[in-house]
Amino acid sequence: TQQTLDDANCITLTRYFLTEQKKYKEATGELTQLLNSVQTAVKVISSAVRRAGFTQLFGTVGETNVQGEEVKKLDVLSNELFINMLKSSYTTALLISEENETIIEVEPDKKGKYIVAFDPLDGSSNIDCLVSVGSIFTIMKKEDNSIPTVEDALKPGTKVVAAGYALYGSATMMVISVGNGVHGFMLDPSIGEFILIEKDMRVPPKGKIYSINEGYTHMWDDAVKEYISNKKDPAKGSPYNARYIGSMVADVHRTIKYGGIFIYPATSASPKGKLRLLYECIPMAFIMTQAGGLASNGKIPILDIKPTAIHERTPIYLGSKDDVQEVLDVIKKHD
Ligand code: AHM
Ligand code: MG
Repeated sequence: TQQTLDDANCITLTRYFLTEQKKYKEATGELTQLLNSVQTAVKVISSAVRRAGFTQLFGTVGETNVQGEEVKKLDVLSNELFINMLKSSYTTALLISEENETIIEVEPDKKGKYIVAFDPLDGSSNIDCLVSVGSIFTIMKKEDNSIPTVEDALKPGTKVVAAGYALYGSATMMVISVGNGVHGFMLDPSIGEFILIEKDMRVPPKGKIYSINEGYTHMWDDAVKEYISNKKDPAKGSPYNARYIGSMVADVHRTIKYGGIFIYPATSASPKGKLRLLYECIPMAFIMTQAGGLASNGKIPILDIKPTAIHERTPIYLGSKDDVQEVLDVIKKHD
């Protein structure tokens, strides 16, 4: 459902979190506080990605800008923002970032009960040519009061409390699920607020788009080769359009909006694919599933995989129900 932006009673993201919180008697407000800190990080990243105050941001780490100040690259800045905002929200115990090799422990005086895994700026190869990038995050709850260890973070997607992404596209959008549907909020830069514009987003049951890096065809297994070749063969039905941005957030967002399938398969060079289970595939699978779509590693649902390492990779097939089912059937046939 589309909502309007100019609504005197508009639902901001903060208002949405509060309303959700009030539905649960036992809620302490900690998750609301956590999500608000993510929201703040995303607002600053959005402004930086759009080069507001751009003299600060060009160049690589360690270089100096025209004013002789040290430059922070966007991915470094985004990572620091996520870490600082999350720690200072007093709601987290442990953080996992794509940018940090090991887990990040939250100081005891700032400790809360949540574990957050995130990719602060995904699609970094697209930054320098101004193509859309995004942030992805997933939130789990620590089950007891013990000292947090890496084991606490290695939970399957069935344990996700909330997940979402921010897309820094032609507008900045946050898409979020706390487990009851998927909702889309657009940043209105004139007031600095995210406004609910898409309530209960649903992915079409079938689309007309396939999204995969076709340059790797020679490294695919036969099932993927057959499926993609079918999608281009008029004898096998109306051919699909090819769309591949190379920014997971943008490719997944388009898939939710227009339907179709996004695939990052295993290749002979990377038998586990490229994308990371904990902070790329699980949150996107959570969102896609909540929106009525499917997400699989080719054999089992992404949300059923028990991670064994924080930077583990997995192949992923995600999108419209019928399209994902179709590729899974082809995979089964080849087994
Ligand atoms: P990154 O985390 O280094 O930015 O890489 C992740 C990105 C995804 O956004 C995108 O889906 C994928 O890498 C594209 O990879 P490839 O260039 O191999 O197609
Ligand atoms: Mg990434």
